[in-house]
Amino acid sequence: KVRTAILISGRGSNMVAIAQAAQATDYPAEIVGVISNRPDAKGLERAKALGLNTDIVDHKLYDNRKAFEQALHAQLLALDPEIICCAGFMRILTPWFVSQWHGRLINIHPSLLPKYKGLNTHQRAIEAGDTHAGVSVHWVTAELDGGEVIDQRSIEILPHDTADTLAERLLPVELALYPDALEAVALQFQKQPRQ
Ligand code: GAR
Repeated sequence: KVRTAILISGRGSNMVAIAQAAQATDYPAEIVGVISNRPDAKGLERAKALGLNTDIVDHKLYDNRKAFEQALHAQLLALDPEIICCAGFMRILTPWFVSQWHGRLINIHPSLLPKYKGLNTHQRAIEAGDTHAGVSVHWVTAELDGGEVIDQRSIEILPHDTADTLAERLLPVELALYPDALEAVALQFQKQPRQ
C-alpha cells in the first residue's frame, strides 16, 4: 500500500472520508499519520477515534513560515509518506516546502479550478452568476491552487443558494471525490513511483 499522510487544520471530514476508504483491504493507500497545524482541530479527535497516528505542528509556535515548514517537514520525514494529502489544510505552502515534496503533494479545493483560487470560492461563484460550483483535487505546486487538476466534480447552483448552502450540498461530493482521486494517484504510484 502507498504510504499516505494527511494534513488538516479543522473539522477533518475529508480526512475521515479518506481514512474510511483506506480501511478497505483492496484500497491502494494506507494512512500513516495525520498532522494538524491547529492544536484544537476537531479532526484530531476524529483521527484518534479511527486509530490513526496524530501529530500537531502548531504554526503559532514558530517565528516565521520557514521555521514552521521545517518543523512540518521533519514530522513528515518521520512518517515517510509517498503521498501527502492536504485536506482542509489552511496554510499557504512556500516554494521550498512544495519542492521538497514535488509530485507527492495533493490538495482538495472547493471550486472548479482554474476558477476561484484562494478563499470564498462559493460566494465568488454565486456573484459571478455561474451555473455550477464544484470541487477539485489537484497537484500542489508553488502557485496557490494552481497545479494540474487530478479530478473534479460539480453541482448546479440553485436560485436561492448561499455560500453556506452550496458548501453544505458540496460536502458529500467532496467526501466521495477525495478518496477516489487518492485511489487513482496511489494506483499510479504502485505502477510507477514518482522520483
Ligand atoms: C473543505 O470544504 C475543503 O474543500 C476546504 O476546506 C474544507 C475542509 O473541511 N479547503 C479549502 O478551502 C482549501 N483552500 P474538512 O476539514 O471537514 O475536510
